Amino acid sequence: MLIDDEAPPSLKRMIYEPLTAAHDAAVACLAEVSGVGPATSEEGIRQMRERVASEAWIARDEGAVVAFALLQVVLDEAELHLVGVDPERRRLGIGKALLERSFRAVGERGASVVFLEVSRANVAAIALYEAMGFALSRVRARYYEDGSDALVMTRAL
Ligand SMILES: CC(C)(COP(=O)(O)OP(=O)(O)OC[C@H]1O[C@@H](n2cnc3c(N)ncnc32)[C@H](O)[C@@H]1OP(=O)(O)O)[C@@H](O)C(=O)NCCC(=O)NCCS
Repeated sequence: MLIDDEAPPSLKRMIYEPLTAAHDAAVACLAEVSGVGPATSEEGIRQMRERVASEAWIARDEGAVVAFALLQVVLDEAELHLVGVDPERRRLGIGKALLERSFRAVGERGASVVFLEVSRANVAAIALYEAMGFALSRVRARYYEDGSDALVMTRAL
């Protein structure tokens, strides 16, 4: 899928498509540089894709995988498990566009709400989620190993 004519040139080139086995290694590399875990090996991504994710999407700029998102649908709820964008291509709108595409896909599977957990320390991700209409629904105090709180954020689809 190509994005609409209003988008800047860097975004217009971007193709959004399902994550397949052919992309596992590239996504594992991106996940590692993005610091998202625990599924940062190629095998970890394969298992997430095959066993957990109901929808797994990438953004591709010609041959290069530049972003990924994996979501799980249970009944009418979708959970965003992982999202990451190539550090060289951040703040270009790719994360937002990829999530919007992924949310459309989970909506088509029957989800009416999407939720996620994010560390209070992850300022960039929280800003992205707020920009996309997510609201804080609860806090899990000292949830992560580094002692930071987990914010549970929710958005209607
Ligand atoms: C969070 C992340 C996915 C954002 O991706 P991105 O492609 O850079 O985000 P976008 O360009 O689509 O940003 C859309 C909006 O979100 C907000 N935003 C995103 N990153 C931001 C930042 N670092 N600081 C402030 N606002 C930010 C802004 O409102 C932005 O719009 P603007 O650029 O017009 O101001 C990216 O920083 C990343 O990969 N981080 C590491 C992985 C991670 O933490 N994943 C989440 C946990 S799994």
